[in-house]
Amino acid sequence: MATSENNDVIQLRGRSLLKEVDLTKQEFLSIVDLAERLRTEKRSGTERQRLLGRNIALIFEKASTRTRAAFEVAAHDQGAHVTYMGPEGSHIGHKESMKDTARVLGRMFDGIEYRGSSQESVEILSRFSGVPVWNGLTDQWHPTQMLADILTMRDHAGKPLDRVGFCYLGDARNNTANSLLVTGALLGMDVRIAAPEDLWPTEDVQTMAKELALVSGARIHIGKDVIGGVEGADFLYTDVWVSMGEPSLDWDMRIDQLLPYQVNAATMKATGNAGAKFMHCLPALHNTDTELGRQIFDKWSLSALEVTEEVFESPASVVFDQAENRLHTIKAAMVASLGD
Ligand code: CP
Ligand code: NVA
Repeated sequence: MATSENNDVIQLRGRSLLKEVDLTKQEFLSIVDLAERLRTEKRSGTERQRLLGRNIALIFEKASTRTRAAFEVAAHDQGAHVTYMGPEGSHIGHKESMKDTARVLGRMFDGIEYRGSSQESVEILSRFSGVPVWNGLTDQWHPTQMLADILTMRDHAGKPLDRVGFCYLGDARNNTANSLLVTGALLGMDVRIAAPEDLWPTEDVQTMAKELALVSGARIHIGKDVIGGVEGADFLYTDVWVSMGEPSLDWDMRIDQLLPYQVNAATMKATGNAGAKFMHCLPALHNTDTELGRQIFDKWSLSALEVTEEVFESPASVVFDQAENRLHTIKAAMVASLGD
């Protein structure tokens, strides 16, 4: 961004968003600040288009509702055009390497979003396309989700981020958990993880977080205990127990392991914080209104998994604010990298 209104994000022009640890705390927060301004503009009908005539490629090797919708609507709002490339219908991965794809798309597009399994793919796209690349989720990281989550926490916490505490419960070695851990560490927050030891973040992710915490002053606690983890937290956060791309056989084991980490009314109460909020990146398995929800009910007689319907639908739940903030923050990420 090179405009006087956004001097604070000027250093992100031309940059990719591949994982949170590539950004400084100031850079990360400058995108969140920009998202807040863009949200105000959109809501007041005064949005100025900063991406006029830009072409954005959207590569989705995995399913998406929010991320795809956010990139498409954000681009449209800002005057850019998108080309969607889904799991079928292109040569990507089948008979053309990511390196070759990157060099082709870089000749045609001004920016590329990528969602798929491999972090290496998104890194290769960035290295060889020569244009900004935004990671729309890999097995390892989910950085655009983090921008929305931090904006949502800021909206609801009513205090500075370095005084905000959140606890992530569930599968803590998936993309969302990894990203929450390092983002909270980057921003100096009180970060807790409550999960079975088998599902803790890998040593290298824990080390990254601890190193960031030394600089930011973040408090990090990773443990098995639910009560100790959630006590005093401002936000409880969970995600699906089996992520996209994992074998469906994993459900048996995960349900056994993770049922004690379900976010329910008792977990919310155990925070001891009447103002504690519930967060989830979505989609969530909180009732039997989905095909998967019904299959799980038929097999295990459980009508909800990682969060109960009661908590999901309660006033404490800010999940749809999070979802809306995907739009404003993804727009900010594109504007920061490419805006005029
Ligand atoms: N939270 C999130 O990334 O949602 P989608 O999978 O719908 O994009
Ligand atoms: N951990 C989840 C996040 C979905 C947005 C998955 O990868 O399926």
